[in-house]
Amino acid sequence: MVASMSEHIIVERDGPVAELRLARPDKRNAITTAMYSALADGLAAAHADEGVRAVLISAEGAHFTAGNDLHDFIANPPQGQDSPVFRFLHALGGADKPVVAAVQGQAVGIGTTMLLHCDIVVLADDARLKMPFVDLALVPEAASSLLVPRAIGHARAAEMLMLGDAIDAPTALAWGLANRVVPAGSERAEALKLAHRLAAKPPAALALTKRLLRDDAPGVATRMDREGGHFADQLQSPELKGAIAAFFARKA
Ligand code: COA
Repeated sequence: MVASMSEHIIVERDGPVAELRLARPDKRNAITTAMYSALADGLAAAHADEGVRAVLISAEGAHFTAGNDLHDFIANPPQGQDSPVFRFLHALGGADKPVVAAVQGQAVGIGTTMLLHCDIVVLADDARLKMPFVDLALVPEAASSLLVPRAIGHARAAEMLMLGDAIDAPTALAWGLANRVVPAGSERAEALKLAHRLAAKPPAALALTKRLLRDDAPGVATRMDREGGHFADQLQSPELKGAIAAFFARKA
């Protein structure tokens, strides 16, 4: 049953599991300000609803997401902590209920960094994780400058965050950035199954366990804010405008 729908974000309920689905496949699910708002609202609604015991984040089409919508970056740069992207990231980072992600194809920028805040990540075998912030004259976001080196070590983090190299699904699994790799096309079903397993657990014990596993929530929130300051500055920079113009001109 479709509980609510906003443009390009579909919110669905499957019993105790609330699914937030990116649904803009013609633009590779590039995420606009309006989509961040809908995601933040969807997470808030899921957390306010006692019947929801787990959240699933998924995407339609061949790719999870091409990251931030680059047109929107220029037109609607995030302004401070109340901006939709920060509302979404803080809601995800502070979520007490378990969050499972199903990821296929390209997961670029925030498509990868949001996974750092999910509890279980299921990758299709064609998934590729990439954080090309520097190539766009940007800096890491979503506390990825803290969480990525913590998860995979500094050397690999530098390859991902400085060189901007993509990693494939088996590498992400081996490096501990994901829980499962499954044949492409079965990632959502597998993630939904895991979300239902989590949804059947005693909710208070699960929430406490999640909080303990993510013990450094204040440090993470502080890092997000610090990154956000640099990010906002870089969004105004000439090097960023050049990099974005180059992306849209690449097919011309
Ligand atoms: N912002 C806005 N539009 C985007 C976009 C983004 N991040 N990524 C893709 N699109 C749009 C393209 O402009 C294109 O629009 P058009 O059909 O009107 O020309 C459409 O989505 C399809 O993109 P295309 O690049 O042709 O798809 P692809 O399958 O060949 O490649 C990607 C997919 C994800 C590899 C590629 O789109 C890409 O690298 N996107 C940018 C990723 C990025 O740098 N994100 C920012 C991270 S901070």
